[in-house]
Amino acid sequence: MCGIIGAIQQRGEVAPFLHQALKRLEYRGYDSVGVTTIADGKLHMKKEKGKVEEVHRLLDLDDLPGSMGIGHTRWATHGIPSLYNSHPHFDCNSEIAVIHNGVIDNFLELREELASKGHKFDSETDTEVIPHLIEDYMKEGMDLKSALKKTTKRIEGTYAIVVMSTREPDKIVCTRDGNPLVIGYKESASYVSSDIPAFLPMTNDMILLLDGEIATLTVNDIEIEKISDDSRVERESIRISWTADQAQKGGFPHFMLKEIHEQPSAIRSTLKLRSEVIVRAAQILRDANRVFLIAMGTSGHAALAGKHMFASLAGVVGTFELASDFSDTVYGALNENDCVIAITQSGETTDTITAVKYAKQYGSKIVAITNVVGSSITRIADHTIITQAGPEIGVAATKTFIVQLTSLALIALALGELTGFKDPSVIMRKRDSLNRLPELVSEVTAKSEERARSLANIYHTKPSLLFLGRGVSIATAFEGALKLKEIAYNHAEGYSAGESKHGPIALVQDGFPVVIIAPNDETRNRIVGNIMEMKARGADILSVIEDGDSDLASISDHIFEIPKGVEPEFSTIPYVVPLQLFSYYMSLRKGYDPDKPRNLAKSVTVL
Ligand code: F6R
Repeated sequence: MCGIIGAIQQRGEVAPFLHQALKRLEYRGYDSVGVTTIADGKLHMKKEKGKVEEVHRLLDLDDLPGSMGIGHTRWATHGIPSLYNSHPHFDCNSEIAVIHNGVIDNFLELREELASKGHKFDSETDTEVIPHLIEDYMKEGMDLKSALKKTTKRIEGTYAIVVMSTREPDKIVCTRDGNPLVIGYKESASYVSSDIPAFLPMTNDMILLLDGEIATLTVNDIEIEKISDDSRVERESIRISWTADQAQKGGFPHFMLKEIHEQPSAIRSTLKLRSEVIVRAAQILRDANRVFLIAMGTSGHAALAGKHMFASLAGVVGTFELASDFSDTVYGALNENDCVIAITQSGETTDTITAVKYAKQYGSKIVAITNVVGSSITRIADHTIITQAGPEIGVAATKTFIVQLTSLALIALALGELTGFKDPSVIMRKRDSLNRLPELVSEVTAKSEERARSLANIYHTKPSLLFLGRGVSIATAFEGALKLKEIAYNHAEGYSAGESKHGPIALVQDGFPVVIIAPNDETRNRIVGNIMEMKARGADILSVIEDGDSDLASISDHIFEIPKGVEPEFSTIPYVVPLQLFSYYMSLRKGYDPDKPRNLAKSVTVL
């Protein structure tokens, strides 16, 4: 859940780059910062609890000598956020510096073993056993790479590890198992990071490092080996299309707002995905006996909406399961005729990766939808669709959600063509409407922003809100509630409007806010009934309705309006936009930073 950066360059001080790279990694969520460089045969280190700029003001992160170094933003797992628990961690002689993401499950026994041999520990972290193990193996005569290899054979858990040592001051060595690491390179410089945006200003050329591989980075070379048999890996580099500018705020006060405004172009780019890629996914679904859609959080809401699209457009009734609970729900009752669609913007969410690996054991086919080229899920899936949102920096997912929905809509249409569940003319009409969504979403964004800001002035004092929808709009309601929870810290619950009278209605009293998602689809008349039930108990109704739906407007206290012409299956795409903006302005009104919600991280790589 933390950020890793390492850089080795021909000349010049590397510290200012590491500092800026750590700023670009802030979005992952973290509580402390540390940087170490090598110069004059010594490690030079600065680290402290706090945000990058706070630590920089205190310690001047730019003032470290040397042209190679490593840096880390830590999100506490083992041990409280503190100077001592911050990475990098060191061996007894301060010759080896290590940063690590992940969790070492057997660190207690390793620590005991190392302590009994006289090793001294400064922190409560699991990570600290790593430099000490490397120290022991180097004492036995191994070089840094061999010592790290041997260390990976002793540790159990998940990791991305980056190491450097004064004994071999021309290289950075790194390895991974279960946590992401990508390598970047250009002439006379090499980089390693947990995330592509960290080195984007320097290069767009990257090389994937896979689980169980170890890479040695020098100024002019990147050498990769498999740890299991020491064999050399030759891997093509990938040129990524993301630009450094996309990972900047570009004049917006927050990444989240910028990313909401980028949604129309993200949809447009995703609609241009090659049709073979979409049709292949549809064929796999058509050939499956059962379809499971699995994901977490916002991606789970996309999966839920996708389930509705598949059923309505193609007659394929899938099952949505939270990836975290997948194995505990299906109990091994999977086989090679099943298809699992895994949706994950980062491609690294451990819950989702674990569920996919579980399904693979039974031979099920895996279709992945992710936004990150080369991410872990892409290497496990039988077929991958890469959504075209560009880098998403705001922790609360917005544009990646919209492009997940767009990809699912494309698959559903292709599947509909294959199954013939709907008349081809219907599919054509739906496709036309999907193609018009970029303009429509632009219009919704422009129209809703001011209203969202003024509604935040009204609702910011309300501690608790209920979000209700029916059919596919249940997914919209869930997402609206999640966004508000994440960045404005309201208690917000998304619920099926049908289910709302079976319990949640007990919460409703005078002035209790209920947000209703009411597109003009076959659920509209039934949701009127739900609004009336809520109003009868004093609820304050904020509705997202179709433009000109005067009946719904008249029974609502406040409304957001969405232009006509949205096909019901795709309604989540425009109807969620005002709710994203509402959460954003609620967060601001309450004095929070919507880009950096507390306790959350951009990719959750722990179980
Ligand atoms: C919500 C959010 C999280 C993620 C969830 C899954 O704004 O960002 O709920 O959706 O952690 O992440 P991915 O899509 O990377 O698997």
